[in-house]
Amino acid sequence: GVMKSVSGLQDLEERLARALHVNQAIIVSGNSDRYSWVKKEMGRACVQQMKEKLAPKDIVAVAGGTTLAAVAEMMSPDSNLEEVSFVPARGGLGEKVEIQSNTISSTMAQKAHGKYRLLHVPDQLSDETRESLILEPGIKELLSIIRQAKMVVHGVGEAETMAARRKTKAETLGSLKDKEAAAEAFGYYFDRAGQIVHKENTVGLQLDDLTNEQFVITVAGGASKAEAITAYMKHRPSDVLITDEGAAQAILDL
Ligand code: F6P
Repeated sequence: GVMKSVSGLQDLEERLARALHVNQAIIVSGNSDRYSWVKKEMGRACVQQMKEKLAPKDIVAVAGGTTLAAVAEMMSPDSNLEEVSFVPARGGLGEKVEIQSNTISSTMAQKAHGKYRLLHVPDQLSDETRESLILEPGIKELLSIIRQAKMVVHGVGEAETMAARRKTKAETLGSLKDKEAAAEAFGYYFDRAGQIVHKENTVGLQLDDLTNEQFVITVAGGASKAEAITAYMKHRPSDVLITDEGAAQAILDL
């Protein structure tokens, strides 16, 4: 019955949280590799967490990807989200416009009746361009807003999948392979030990900017992401991991 399956997931949540050293794991049933509605359920669970943990006027930095797009899709107004500002965590990462963090920020704001700010920077910056861009007053201001975020909500991808999706150049692909990159989050690539092996050259939130003060929610599911989620959590366990049964079982079986 319902009670039994609920307590079954609860047990899985506790085991997963212990295995990954996260404060809390929330598991929705199913495997999002197989059914897209599972991603929406993760989105729903994430929206609920955001409503519980945010307060009016807070700033929340959001990443891109299809999982975050599902979070945006499930967003709705709430008294705790009044005047909350949604900002993209990092600038251009080579994603299609529908799943860029700018798009996700504005959709979330629209659905939550909150506010948003956009970060307009091209993908694949040279060091020179990046350094002059961050001095532009508009960008500088936005970067300081991003650093004031109370909450960061982001996805995790498999390194190879993400590198291919971004049409990463052959040279970088080779180096990711040599360094055995397993996971990607915020434009950073990690090996299985959770060490950073590559970083995309864009502006915005740097992993070093994350302190214990920010509340970090990771949303990632599907059995195919088991290694990636495990690798990323070795780098920095999140406050809340929202995932699905498919990923949770596969992680515990690793
Ligand atoms: O490119 C943005 C991003 O958030 C990556 O950091 C992450 O690896 C990926 O999207 C996750 O995408 P998806 O939710 O589609 O698997």
